[in-house]
Amino acid sequence: MSGWRRRIAVTGGCGFIGGAYLRQMVPRHPEDLYVNIDALTYAASPERVAAVAHEGNYVFERVDIRDTKAVVECLGRHSITDVVHFAAESHNDRAILTPLRFVETNVVGTANLLESWRVVAKGSGGRFHHISTDEVYGSLPIEGGEGFTESTPYDPSSPYSASKAAADHLVRAWHRTFGLDVVITNCSNNFGPFQFPEKLLPVMISNALSGRRLPVYGDGMNVRDWIHVEDHCDALDLVLRQGRAGRTYNIGADCEIPNITLVTMLCEIIDQREGPLPGGRSRASLIEFVPDRPGHDRRYAIDASRIREELGWSPRHEFRQALEDTVDWYRTHRAWVENCQKSDEFRAYAERNYGERSGDVS
Ligand SMILES: NC(=O)c1ccc[n+]([C@@H]2O[C@H](COP(=O)([O-])OP(=O)(O)OC[C@H]3O[C@@H](n4cnc5c(N)ncnc54)[C@H](O)[C@@H]3O)[C@@H](O)[C@H]2O)c1
Repeated sequence: MSGWRRRIAVTGGCGFIGGAYLRQMVPRHPEDLYVNIDALTYAASPERVAAVAHEGNYVFERVDIRDTKAVVECLGRHSITDVVHFAAESHNDRAILTPLRFVETNVVGTANLLESWRVVAKGSGGRFHHISTDEVYGSLPIEGGEGFTESTPYDPSSPYSASKAAADHLVRAWHRTFGLDVVITNCSNNFGPFQFPEKLLPVMISNALSGRRLPVYGDGMNVRDWIHVEDHCDALDLVLRQGRAGRTYNIGADCEIPNITLVTMLCEIIDQREGPLPGGRSRASLIEFVPDRPGHDRRYAIDASRIREELGWSPRHEFRQALEDTVDWYRTHRAWVENCQKSDEFRAYAERNYGERSGDVS
């Protein structure tokens, strides 16, 4: 194939953020070829990319990033120049149940992808963009403590965040040792359409819509810094194209909210749209505090000054409006949510986890 400006492998493109990235980028950059490399685990949904699946600059390849032979063959066949690496095991609760799976995909898979790309894309002038999380920095105290900057020392608490931290280190090492052009982005909690219904927001929205209990960990005062997935993807596009080689960029929208406040806001929004529960009760009456998750970080907050100042990025979504739009998306896509919840792997997990620890989700 020739004629493309860049040939970009997007790993994990059938996932929540990878899918949003492809829906935005495929039409935005018709001069680039996007090759979606995804193993289609339980977390994947091809519907996330249905809107771009028939575009001429989009191709799908079912490949597991842990499979060296398949990765080398795929990157070579498409003459890949750049990699944008989303593929990962991404759910913290699952990392407690199956930590080695996180190491295999997030650490070994990333090393395999990096090394395959180093060999195959040599001399292509392309870039390896590794998508990571703010969780690598560990936990901040509830009161005080500035947001994480790019020089905050790594201090991960969970098998998920430790596996992502390990992957970040590998990417930096391949830059320093082999001179590869890499960039790393560490982003805060994303929300928006098509998020898998085991993550906080979709679980709470779908339970509240069905009148089921709303399990909140601990005292509900854990703080997360929220960003709309499209704002994250806009930032990623800038970093891929304009970021400095070898550099890390934190991405966050200055939107810190305690979990209990967020869940209460969702209840309010759903009550307004659907009316109260029988007996005139608000959906907030469904909230139930459940035993905290081990290794549950207290607070995350991102200082995004670098990407704002160096690359001129800023989020375009206003939080309350974006939250309302997200609730409306889940209200009109209940079949998609139910379909995700039907897979054997999801049901087995829900029985093991929510059934015992945090409520009636499946
Ligand atoms: N969700 C968030 O709030 C958030 C925040 C910051 C960073 N991140 C990072 O962004 C990336 C994407 O997160 P997400 O929420 O979209 O995840 P997701 O779980 O929704 O999607 C992951 C995708 O990767 C694919 N995948 C998993 N293992 C694979 C393998 N071995 N080979 C090929 N494909 C494989 C899955 O099939 C799925 O499509 C992850 O690296 C995550 O660490 C997520």
